Amino acid sequence: MKITENHSLKNNNTFGIDVQCSTFACIDSVEELEDFSENILKNEKFYILGGGSNTLFTKNFGGIIIHPEITGIEIVEESSESVVVCAAAGEEWDNLINFCIKNELYGLENLTAIPGLVGSAPVQNIGAYGVEVKDCILKVSGFDFSKKQLSEFSNAECGFSYRNSVFKANTKRDFLITHVFFRLSRKKRFNLSYNALAKTISDRYSEPTLKAISDTVREIRDSKLPDYRILGNCGSFFKNPVVSDGFCAKLLEKHPDLVVFDADGGNKKLSAGHLIEKCGWKGRRVGNAGVYPKQALVLVNYGNASPDEILNLAGMIVSDVRNEFGVELEMEINRV
Ligand code: EPU
Repeated sequence: MKITENHSLKNNNTFGIDVQCSTFACIDSVEELEDFSENILKNEKFYILGGGSNTLFTKNFGGIIIHPEITGIEIVEESSESVVVCAAAGEEWDNLINFCIKNELYGLENLTAIPGLVGSAPVQNIGAYGVEVKDCILKVSGFDFSKKQLSEFSNAECGFSYRNSVFKANTKRDFLITHVFFRLSRKKRFNLSYNALAKTISDRYSEPTLKAISDTVREIRDSKLPDYRILGNCGSFFKNPVVSDGFCAKLLEKHPDLVVFDADGGNKKLSAGHLIEKCGWKGRRVGNAGVYPKQALVLVNYGNASPDEILNLAGMIVSDVRNEFGVELEMEINRV
């Protein structure tokens, strides 16, 4: 355990927002959690922060930021068909992807190059190119600060949905994920349901390998999404809005070029990036905050943007999309 007082969070959030927290606590083992909970956390206000790639700090945080630094990735069960991999919360997500490629384990390759830590992946059910992490999660284990004990959530108990889970909803904010267990396939099988990925792969490979898929996903992401080390951002700032089939049909009468995907329950998912672009926001800059020129779903910090500058920009976008399309954009990022 490592505790720092009055810690600057500038390097702990990918937006690069310069705020402070009263206490920053790095947790490096499961064993110290009980002691930490009894003697340091007590009844203090706290927030669990992974890589800070989905969090917008809006002001100084007067409480304890808990940051997992527990590491380790190992195969804990195997058969000829599949394996169970246990990955610790403090591992970089991309380390897990590299582990899968080295050991030829299929399932997570479409999620290559997503920034952040393993422990954050289930919280917002990260997803890209037709795969959501829930598809491969067997169970999640961690420490429940309200009950002061270790516990486990099966996949069903995690309550996963599009960019959501019980850990993101207020119900389980007091649960520190320490390990995530994934069931991965030993058999070659790819998810090429996403057109842009399928096309690039078929143009290039007749027999794609696991590494080829992973490299291609990395390349597509690099071409569209800014590197937060160069331009602060949190990836997609908004969720893609889900609307009813009927509403979507009416919208398409007026705007026949809208990008629409099928969603659960017969609903439709609209591309927030496309709606924002149609409102003329793509590439626009207001002060130090802006809309990324290559992907309108991403808001960027052009340097020293204040949280208010980013939130004001987001507010203007939400209002324009509402006025133009009658659709309410919801933020994907957590505001703290
Ligand atoms: N589009 C536009 N203009 C834009 C952006 C997108 O017209 O400025 C259109 C594209 O042409 C395409 C469609 O919208 O037809 C979808 O675009 P894209 O493939 O870039 O995906 P997205 O819906 O914008 C989602 C995820 C991303 C993930 C990609 C790929 C959400 C909120 N975002 O973005 O996740 O990488 O799909 O699967 O679901 C993240 O969460 O941080 C993230 C990057």
